[in-house]
Amino acid sequence: MSEIILGIESSCDDTSAAVLQDRVLLSNVIASQQVHKDYGGVVPELASRAHELNIVPVVSEALSRAGVKSSELSAIAFTRGPGLLGSLLVGTSFAKALSLSVGCPLIEVNHLQGHVLAGFVRQKDVAVREPSFPFLCLLVSGGNSQIVKVNDPLHFEILGQTIDDAVGEAFDKCSKMMGLGYPGGPVIDRLAKLGNPDRFKFAKPRVPGLDYSFSGIKTSLLYFVRDEMAKDSAFLENNKEDICASFQKALIDILMDKLVKAARQTGITQIAIGGGVSANSGLRTRIVEEGRKRGWETFLPEFKFTTDNAAMIAIAGHFHYLAGERCPLDAAPYSRAVNAESR
Ligand code: KG4
Repeated sequence: MSEIILGIESSCDDTSAAVLQDRVLLSNVIASQQVHKDYGGVVPELASRAHELNIVPVVSEALSRAGVKSSELSAIAFTRGPGLLGSLLVGTSFAKALSLSVGCPLIEVNHLQGHVLAGFVRQKDVAVREPSFPFLCLLVSGGNSQIVKVNDPLHFEILGQTIDDAVGEAFDKCSKMMGLGYPGGPVIDRLAKLGNPDRFKFAKPRVPGLDYSFSGIKTSLLYFVRDEMAKDSAFLENNKEDICASFQKALIDILMDKLVKAARQTGITQIAIGGGVSANSGLRTRIVEEGRKRGWETFLPEFKFTTDNAAMIAIAGHFHYLAGERCPLDAAPYSRAVNAESR
């Protein structure tokens, strides 16, 4: 019998709903909140309020575009965490209310698992290559930077992760510091294409094992710009393309060094990327180049599945649904990735 899953995502500043039928995407609606742009970052209280306004129209639109009635749903999958608690509460409460009213099961999804599984969403008339298990996923977003070993759709091991900032935070904070705008990743990516990546060098972290650190390189850029501006007040304006290209290259080098190490240690050659930063053009090119050199088979998500979206929550929900997992109505959202591996 056919299975129809509604996915709901509200962990940060995107309200999204998607409908998946037997793994095939019927609709994926995303309302991105513009209200945060003036503040140079997401303001949690404003995010929760915007989710409250968006959730009903976004879910209605997703069902209507899919041509599905809520009574036809097999299950409702929602992001339980990690993320901003107020934002998560909106999606969680809505998912619970809808599941009660239509009488279908509720399925909790870990947001990070959604990013990792985004590549398994199927689309009508689009050929998709899927990694085979086990594969490694470089999960890079505004809140996380991890190397995940994916044993099967429901069992992950985190081999390494950031001990301080996420790589997306480094993009965002440095962009803000240079007055380039928010979110910083896409802006730096665009300017980097016009610059020389080898012109400036930034301090690389020394972190043991497969863990990452991005707070030092952020400070390195801050001091570098401050010192150069003291000598020439037009330095930033006249060199922003080269600064962005060099900074982006340094971040990608850090990400790739540990990923190469993880692949070597595990012997795994199926390599995927996921999360908002996986939209970065420099990172995408580099992964493919390294893959060619090292005999990896690489998997890049489509751009629309890189940043937060409910299609990835619905596909993760699909795997939990098949495994018979159900979420009780008293499940509260969680803001941090504690115990995320076992969820
Ligand atoms: O996955 P996501 O939408 O939200 C989180 O779960 O964090 O990721 C957002 C992050 C932001 O830090 C944003 O600057 C970054 O993804 N990002 C990029 C690019 N597009 C989005 N970073 C680098 N290059 C991009 N093209």
